[in-house]
Amino acid sequence: MVLMSLSRPWTTTWLPLPTNAIMTPTHLGPAEHLFSAEEVETAIQRMAVAINKDLEHLSPQRPVVLLCVLTGAVVVVGQLMPQLHFPLVLDCVQVGRYGAETSGGTLQWRTRPKEPLAGAVVLLVDDILDEGVTLQALQEYCKAEGAAAIHTAVMVRKVRPRAIDVQVDYVGLEVPDRFVFGYGLDARGLGRNAPGIFVLPEDG
Ligand code: IMP
Ligand code: MG
Repeated sequence: MVLMSLSRPWTTTWLPLPTNAIMTPTHLGPAEHLFSAEEVETAIQRMAVAINKDLEHLSPQRPVVLLCVLTGAVVVVGQLMPQLHFPLVLDCVQVGRYGAETSGGTLQWRTRPKEPLAGAVVLLVDDILDEGVTLQALQEYCKAEGAAAIHTAVMVRKVRPRAIDVQVDYVGLEVPDRFVFGYGLDARGLGRNAPGIFVLPEDG
């Protein structure tokens, strides 16, 4: 367990702390440690086992297209990928949402997939399922591009009511309906390198 101090200009200090201590990143405000790095790694291993079970029987003639949803999914994809035992090509997508009034999955594209998706089995990997708008819109995009099958994995799923019934096949961990960061997830751009999953205070 460590104490992480985030302060501008982008300095990070790591100090030893007893197990189960409350984290106090000075830039992000106090934060609580929800899952340790070991717990997240174990959850990612479990996801890899389930994904292998579903996908490793596929023909090596057509590799699976693993779509990493930038930026937050880089850590989970980096850990997941070496544990997958089937031919795959890695590609990335990056999207944003237009604004608070956005509804119905309108995406602003920053990076589209470079791999052709027509006829491909796609494994879409994101950091978190919140409202589900992003993942549902990405699934729709893959379908529209002619993907043969779409499997979706998220490192964490928020336990919350969801207006959108988005299908997610593999879930690492569940978190309360609070703002979380760490393991790729950011809070105001910071905290992606935090070693585990942390939660900001209610007003954070
Ligand atoms: P959705 O479209 O509401 O499901 O939002 C998904 C995206 O919002 C994720 O890919 C994250 O980038 C971001 N997001 C939602 N909740 C959190 C959070 O608690 N921490 C960090 N990012 C989040
Ligand atoms: Mg994201």
